[in-house]
Amino acid sequence: MSFLSITFHQPQLTDLDELVALDQCCLGGLWSKNGYQRELMSSNSHFWVLSSDSTQTILGFGCFWEILEEAHITLLMISPEYQGQGLGQLLLYGLLRDAVNRNLERATLEVRVSNQPALCLYQKFGFEVAGQRKGYYQTTGEDALVLWRKGLQYPQFEQDLYIWKQQINDRLTANHLQLIIKN
Ligand SMILES: CC(C)(COP(=O)(O)OP(=O)(O)OC[C@H]1O[C@@H](n2cnc3c(N)ncnc32)[C@H](O)[C@@H]1OP(=O)(O)O)[C@@H](O)C(=O)NCCC(=O)NCCS
Repeated sequence: MSFLSITFHQPQLTDLDELVALDQCCLGGLWSKNGYQRELMSSNSHFWVLSSDSTQTILGFGCFWEILEEAHITLLMISPEYQGQGLGQLLLYGLLRDAVNRNLERATLEVRVSNQPALCLYQKFGFEVAGQRKGYYQTTGEDALVLWRKGLQYPQFEQDLYIWKQQINDRLTANHLQLIIKN
């Protein structure tokens, strides 16, 4: 059985159309093309993309805003056909690894109360519910849960990252996926 090689990298402006299309498919069009362009050019916005190494197709991406000592996770999505294979965990791991490398201390995000897959994923990584924003999502009026993951600056979090990395690698291997690290 052959493996699908995937890469982890920062997107370019040439990736804009693909990012917008995946956002449309996964989140119903959270940000416009102009919005993505602005974010890609912002020095406070940190994007990570997972792509197929052979076709360069984007399989998922995530982003966080660096605000003081906090990482505000704004986007996290995996293409539906690649969900359930460990890539969401890999992406969240990558965002948190980057946040630690930037000496950030906490991560936060909002998630729909009904988004069980995302909630399970965040809770696996130690995010805790800190509050609820009523009617936060304008199109549906749905509430958002506000989640926080504290302690990114402590040695224990490095250990957590190490363990997650092993688990994620095992999960990817079981799904015939392999991460290629490029310089
Ligand atoms: C949330 C999302 C990124 C998860 O990506 P994924 O590649 O499917 O996730 P993984 O395969 O790495 O699974 C990671 C964990 O997420 C949780 N999870 C994933 N799919 C799930 C499902 N259908 N039901 C419950 N939990 C689920 C589980 O905790 C899982 O760990 P486990 O398999 O060891 O139990 C993906 O579902 C997605 O892109 N959703 C649409 C966009 C979105 O809602 N983004 C979050 C906005 S806040």
